[in-house]
Amino acid sequence: MKMLMAANWKMFKTRGEAADCARGIESRLAWLPADREAVLFAPFTALAACAEALGPGARLRLGGQNCYPASEGAFTGEISPGMLLDCACSQVLVGHSERRALLGESDAFIGKKCAFALNSGLDTTLCIGETLKERDGGMLRPVLERQLAEGLSGVQDDIAAERLSIAYEPVWAIGTGRVAGPVEILEAHALIRAFLRKRFTSGGGAMRILYGGSVKAGNAEEIINLDNVDGVLVGGASLQAETFARIALAGVSD
Ligand code: 13P
Repeated sequence: MKMLMAANWKMFKTRGEAADCARGIESRLAWLPADREAVLFAPFTALAACAEALGPGARLRLGGQNCYPASEGAFTGEISPGMLLDCACSQVLVGHSERRALLGESDAFIGKKCAFALNSGLDTTLCIGETLKERDGGMLRPVLERQLAEGLSGVQDDIAAERLSIAYEPVWAIGTGRVAGPVEILEAHALIRAFLRKRFTSGGGAMRILYGGSVKAGNAEEIINLDNVDGVLVGGASLQAETFARIALAGVSD
């Protein structure tokens, strides 16, 4: 399975800024090894501009940061998987901790999105992660297992492994500069791998588990070399083309 190097721009960039940056990333991905994929989760309003800037055949693929679990309807402010496909997206994120915390998204709702997005043809990354309070309270395992069980509840047992990935993003490491240490990442990713192996008939061993939370050009190589780390999901450091490209190419000698 290819490693997945993902940028999450969150609520940053106008169309022009996004198109420039997407072009800048793409031009630096000529050296992306064949065993890596790169994807950009851009704001909805910038997706069409990024698609146009990248053109057909780009290495950098596009994704939405969220979607609603219906094809169309009276859902003011929401975006369907079909609309993302229409903007040249092949991917979507569901369950980002910022949406859980700031917009009150429940595990059950995230589970509906995950299954609906996959059934609609989008490859899907389910984001999970514990708060510092949950970690300090010894709740790491039950929190991750609950988020996985409910987030994946509607997903078919035989889903192709490359279509579903999990992003482990400890809430206390997001945007804080405090990256989780190797021991913490290894423990959480092993727990997630064990869950996926049990949950899926055959693909659970191959599904990608990404790490997210203060990933930078200086720590990416160490992180992707850890067991059960199959890529990264990068926030702040993905906003500059040069920095994200350095992360996507981490460990590749020039
Ligand atoms: P930072 O890389 O800014 O910590 O954000 C991580 C994240 O939330 C990616 O989805």
